[in-house]
Formats: sequence, C-alpha cells, structure tokens
Amino acid sequence: MASTVGREIIGQSKPVHDMLKLIARIASSKTNVLIVGESGTGKELVARLIHDSGPLKGKAFVPVNCGAIPENLIESEMFGHKRGSFTGAVADKPGLFEAANGGTLFLDEVGELPLALQVKLLRAIQERIFRRVGGTEDIRVDVRIIAATNRDLEAAVAKGTFREDLYYRLNVLLVRTPPLRERKGDVHILAESFLKRFSDRSAKKLAGFEPAAMAALESYSWPGNVRELENVIERAITLENHDVVTFDALPSGIRKAHAAASGTPKADAAASPGAPFISIAHPDFTQGPIDLPTILRDVEKKFMDAALTASGGDSSKAMTLLGMSTETPKGGRERKPK
Ligand SMILES: Nc1ncnc2c1ncn2[C@@H]1O[C@H](COP(=O)(O)OP(=O)(O)O)[C@@H](O)[C@H]1O
Ligand SMILES: [Mg+2]
Repeated sequence: MASTVGREIIGQSKPVHDMLKLIARIASSKTNVLIVGESGTGKELVARLIHDSGPLKGKAFVPVNCGAIPENLIESEMFGHKRGSFTGAVADKPGLFEAANGGTLFLDEVGELPLALQVKLLRAIQERIFRRVGGTEDIRVDVRIIAATNRDLEAAVAKGTFREDLYYRLNVLLVRTPPLRERKGDVHILAESFLKRFSDRSAKKLAGFEPAAMAALESYSWPGNVRELENVIERAITLENHDVVTFDALPSGIRKAHAAASGTPKADAAASPGAPFISIAHPDFTQGPIDLPTILRDVEKKFMDAALTASGGDSSKAMTLLGMSTETPKGGRERKPK
C-alpha cells in the first residue's frame, strides 16, 4: 500500500516516510484533514494524495485558494449565487462547494479566510447545508474538507483572527509536511528527479550535476522548500550550456550560502597529491563583500576536526597529520587545534 500511496511524493527521508505512513492510515476515512507546513513543502500534493488514496478516489477534487480570491468574491465563489444578487451576477451560478459534492473540497491557505466567511464555512461544514448568495433555499452537500495552511492557526485562534470552532472542525486529523531542510538526503533525490523531468521536456539533455553543484544544493537551507528547488533546477537547465548542471548555473544566493558555509575557493584540493579533498565554491562578489577571515577560520577548523578524528583525539598527532609543528616557533603564530 505504501508504494501506491507514496507514488507522487518523492523522498526517502524519515520525516517523509512517517508522513506517508500517516497518510496511508488516515486515507481510508472521509474525515476532515488539516495539512500544516511551510510554503512549498507539498501541501497540495499531500491533499491530492489523501483524496486519491481513499474512498473518494475518482470523485471531484476541487481546490480553492482562499488567499487568492478577493474578499468580496469568496462567498459567491464558494457557495455560488443567484442571478441578480449583486452587480455582475447575470445568471445563477453554482459555487465550488456544489462542484465538490460527493468528493473533496481542498481549502488551500485556509488561514487567509476572512472571519465573516469562516462563520459561513463552519455552518456549511457542520450542517452540510448552505445557501447561494442571494438564494433562499438550502442546498445540501456531502463533501470531505481537506484544508491547508502555512500559518500557525493556534496562534491565530489566540489572537482572534481565526475561529476556534472552525479550527477544531478542520483539524480532526493533522498532517505536517516537513520542511526540506529537515529531510536529509531528499534534496539529492528531488534534484535528480526534477532534472530528469525538465530535461525530458526540453531539448537539453543534461546528464547530472557537477559535484560542487550538488554539494551546494545539499547544504542550502531551502526557505522556499521543494518549490524553490524545483525552480532552481528549471532555471539551471535553462541557463546551462554544459552537459551537466554546474555550480555556476545556480542562483547567486545559493552559491554564496555555500561559499560561506564550506568556505573555500574552488581550487581543486584533490589536484595536489595527498591533500584531503573538500568541495570548494567560487567566491561570489555580486552580492557584496564576502567574509574571508571567517571562511578561512572555518576551513581551518574543518581540517583540524578531521585530523583530530583521524588521530583519535591526539592533538600532537593531529598537528603532524596537518603538516604543522606543535612547537611554537619564536615570534610565530601558535597553532593549536581546539
Ligand atoms: N515531496 C515532493 N515530491 C515531489 N514534488 C514535490 C514534493 N513536495 C512538493 N513538491 C512540488 O513542489 C511544488 C510545491 O508544492 P505544493 O504542494 O504546491 O506546496 P505548498 O502547497 O505546500 O506550498 C509543486 O510543484 C509540487 O509538485
Ligand atoms: Mg499551496
């Protein structure tokens, strides 16, 4: 079961595994689900997966982006309207609730719903009855509600901007989509898979990633999560004129973050025999000055840590391994591993 459930969600990390297990467990019911996670973590993907793995598979799945519809139109979008109920209502129109009847209504960015609408939504969910704008008859629907938000709804409830009763109605089951920075190993898998998808689509066939490029992708913190990674790969493929994705085709923010973290100019340390290889990024000066002293200290610390590990914690052996003397020459700089 897990394999079909996980079909479209790419990732092998423990947080993803746990999430897929939870989804497999909850999909068989028609209970409302609240999906919480940062932007770009795949909340919509998860909503579709829950829908497709349960009893409503094949029925309507109707997404509504509650944050994207102007406030004065949301009610009519959701519940429909009667002809003449407002300027522009030239005909009777069913809303998204009716369109989702028998299936799933996916309320994306539900935290953006204005309070007035929250009241109407609560009634529709609770009683499975609503009226079109300007309408007088009750319309009965049977829909499963899957809602998603990147907001802290509990905090919104505490502040009074989100109704507590609605919160509990939506949050019968909770699924959290993990941020990409917590999904160890998944950046690699996702990047390869996006590379394949985008190069299948374009005329450019790229064979993979230059090691420095992959190292930079893996060390980046991905505030925009999978969506950001997807965009970065698409952009890199468009810009790339080598047969692999190179470090230079990555956005400067990522190159810079990598330079600051790993610290090192791209001189190939492996080129000098016996030198330990560390991946080294091009300095990027387009975003302002870099902090070379910090970078050098980081590099020094990395090498010292490596030497200490190799010497089992024996610092004088570690110094020998690094080609450094433990004696402090007169007037020289004392170098001791921390
Ligand atoms: N685990 C994943 N595997 C594959 N693609 C993913 C994954 N998570 C997100 N995506 C992709 O990232 C983009 C953003 O996902 P989306 O569901 O819209 O995120 P959210 O709704 O949380 O902002 C989409 O193109 C989606 O297909
Ligand atoms: Mg979304």
